[in-house]
Amino acid sequence: MAWIEKYGHGGDLLTAKQLFGSKEKPLLDFSANINPLGPPTGMMKILKDQLETIVHYPDPAQRLLKQRLAEKLAVTAEHILIGNGAAECMALVILGLQPETVGVVYPCFSEYEQLAVSFGAKIKSCYGKLANDFKPDISDLFQLLTETDLVFIGHPNNPTGVLYSREELVQIAKQAEKTNTYLVIDEAFIDFLPYEKQITLLPDLETFKHVIFIRSMTKFYAIPGLRLGYAVSHPALISKIQGKQVTWSVNQLALVAGEACLEEQEYEERTIALIQEQRSYVKCSIEENLGWFVFPGQANFLLVRLPEEITAADLQWKMGQKGILIRSCSMYPGLTLHDFRIAVRTKQENDHLIEAFKEVVEEGKKQ
Ligand SMILES: Cc1ncc(COP(=O)(O)O)c(C=O)c1O
Repeated sequence: MAWIEKYGHGGDLLTAKQLFGSKEKPLLDFSANINPLGPPTGMMKILKDQLETIVHYPDPAQRLLKQRLAEKLAVTAEHILIGNGAAECMALVILGLQPETVGVVYPCFSEYEQLAVSFGAKIKSCYGKLANDFKPDISDLFQLLTETDLVFIGHPNNPTGVLYSREELVQIAKQAEKTNTYLVIDEAFIDFLPYEKQITLLPDLETFKHVIFIRSMTKFYAIPGLRLGYAVSHPALISKIQGKQVTWSVNQLALVAGEACLEEQEYEERTIALIQEQRSYVKCSIEENLGWFVFPGQANFLLVRLPEEITAADLQWKMGQKGILIRSCSMYPGLTLHDFRIAVRTKQENDHLIEAFKEVVEEGKKQ
């Protein structure tokens, strides 16, 4: 049993507060993969100054943010769809492209399957290979592309952190062109990587007319409560997908925040450096102090496998009682009762997490 994923995701603070909340101490959330620096201060100031603009409708065509994103990504505004979070972009892709069969690579973000099923599609799947840290065999992916109308891959994938090389992505995208299958590359976490530009296929957009890139602004800029994401693809696909969007679905404050976030270069650099450093620090600390296995994926989160005698649910409960939230991964197809995920946060918070893990292990020995 998992304790805080009642609605399928980490970061559910209301459920967590009901289970573990105390008046003295706020909960420390490692269960959602959000930038530990919090939202950029410059952006927050602009947002506060712009609060009164909510008396007007947001721009239904989201022109200013689209223009800024187009400049950043070196595409045109017609290549971009802005959504109420990456999650809305995924839903619109399915609604707009109407796939009868959707392919997923387990273990993966649960919304791919959930959205596809709720919009009437059938699911086909393949599994990442444990021996290859959950990267699937290319031949399995090719098979999936042959059998489906649309395939989702995470890049990096949640919760495994799997990344593909550019060469592998080119192979997969070429195959998608051959089989006439839409390929959705979910890059919700790619901004956290220092070598994002080397590994994304986004600059090759014009070559791969079946590929749709989805990105989130909620994780990197720490605004999940505001909701903001975007999709980038060939204008013909974007226009089909956009046709399904409810007018004004992206609110005025999210648009203002998005424009301001894109000016935050120093914050972006600081975030990437922090995550790079702390990611290897936490991985080593867990391996050295606790002897647990940490998968080597690349992202601002880590997937950890516990030894047989500890379950993720038990650890989650004991950590929750210490005011720390971790994400059990036992409900992901392809993972086990012993797998959990943690976000990479600041050094102080990470140290606190490791100390609490050690206490839980020590307390277990005394029982
Ligand atoms: C892989 C992945 N993609 C997309 C999303 C959704 O992002 P957003 O908050 O922008 O809707 C999440 C949220 O956890 C995620 O893990």
